[in-house]
Parts: sequence; C-alpha cells; structure tokens
Amino acid sequence: SQAQPTRRGALIVVEGLDRAGKSSQCEMLRDSLWQKGSPVKYIRFPDRTTPIGKLIDSYLRGSSHQDDHSIHLLFSANRWEVAKSIEDEIASGTTVIVDRYSYSGVVYSAAKANPTLSLEWAWQPEIGLPRPDICLFLSISPEEAAKRGGFGVERYENEPMQTRVRQLFSTVFERQEDVSIIDAGRSITEVALQIQATVSDCIEHMDATAPLRKLE
Ligand code: TMP
Ligand code: MG
Repeated sequence: SQAQPTRRGALIVVEGLDRAGKSSQCEMLRDSLWQKGSPVKYIRFPDRTTPIGKLIDSYLRGSSHQDDHSIHLLFSANRWEVAKSIEDEIASGTTVIVDRYSYSGVVYSAAKANPTLSLEWAWQPEIGLPRPDICLFLSISPEEAAKRGGFGVERYENEPMQTRVRQLFSTVFERQEDVSIIDAGRSITEVALQIQATVSDCIEHMDATAPLRKLE
C-alpha cells in the first residue's frame, strides 16, 4: 500500500485585549488537543527570552525608551526569529498554538496615533510570516474587562490605549479571513468548549497535505 502523505499541524493564533483570558484558554486548548493525541506546542509573543525579547521586555516594563517604529520592528523581528522553527514544527505534524501574533503587532503600534505609523505601514514587516489557519479573537466588553480587576503596570495597560486597541482590532479583523470571534465574557468552561469546537472544525476542514501559507 502507498504511504499516506504527512498531515501537517495547524497554526492557531489566539488574540484579544489584556484580561480576555488568552493565556488560560491557550493552556486549556493545548491540554485538550494533547488528550486527543495530537502533538501540540504552545508559544507566546512577545517571546521575552531572546535578546530581542529582552529589549521588548525592558520597553514594556518602562525601563527603556524606544522610537515607536523601532519597537514595532523589534516585535516583528521577535516573530521572524522563530518563524522557521514554527514552520518546521508544523511540517512535522505538530499543531502550534500562538498567544498573540501579528494582529497584536499592528494594532498596538497603530493605536499610538503616531502620524507616520499607520496600520498599513505596520503590516509590511509581517508579510511572509507563517499564516494562521485560524485566528480566535477573544472579545470582552470594557465593562467585563473592568470587572476582572485593574490594569497591570506595563506600558499600554491603560484605558485610553485599550479603547483604541479594541477599535483597531475590529478594523483589522473585519478585513481578515479565517477569524473566529469568541465571546470571552462567559465562563471559562463555556469559552473553552467553543474554542475546542472551532479548532476541531478548522483542523477537520483544512487541507493538511498542503503547506502552511504565508501572511500577505
Ligand atoms: P503580553 O501581555 O501578552 O505579554 O503582551 C505584552 C504587550 O505587548 C501587550 O500590551 C501587547 C503588546 N504587543 C505589541 O505591542 N506588539 C506585538 O507584536 C505583541 C506580540 C504584543
Ligand atoms: Mg500583558
């Protein structure tokens, strides 16, 4: 009999505002895929462990200053430095769950309202990165976010910034294909079950013999 072509893994991105529950949901999704027997890996951006990630971390904690364009390109470079390893994992059959990706990248930078840093400008360095098979946008209302406790102390964790980020996420996801908006204002379990169902549906319907696509 002929050998089956290798099924590649899926690239699953989880996006949302701070306190939408991204990290807990990513962990639960990883565990549920693992229990079903799929090889799976969970990573996050920014990856603060690399040399570029350390510059980003210091900027976010307010210990250093960066020009808006410069920090934007560092966030993008932080994705490029692991792009190849993501592609390799996926080609070998591992599903990769990513907590924040290029969408956070463009939205947070464009939310600064810097006149020379538009969404269009911000998207350019993302072109060519691995393209997610699905992006789950965990959506919560400002009221629900407020109920979940105060802001943290990092840069961007303030009301005016978060309001602009929310608006820009809507703009970006209106134009984007393969996005699923998840109402993350419900219980952790309800949200987890919807995410699992959406991801199973995506994995079942994607062409797992075709290579991963690229952002364009
Ligand atoms: P985190 O809270 O998920 O660790 O993300 C840290 C902050 O970095 C968060 O406010 C979103 C922001 N961010 C960007 O500005 N650009 C990016 O490309 C990414 C991945 C995150
Ligand atoms: Mg945070």
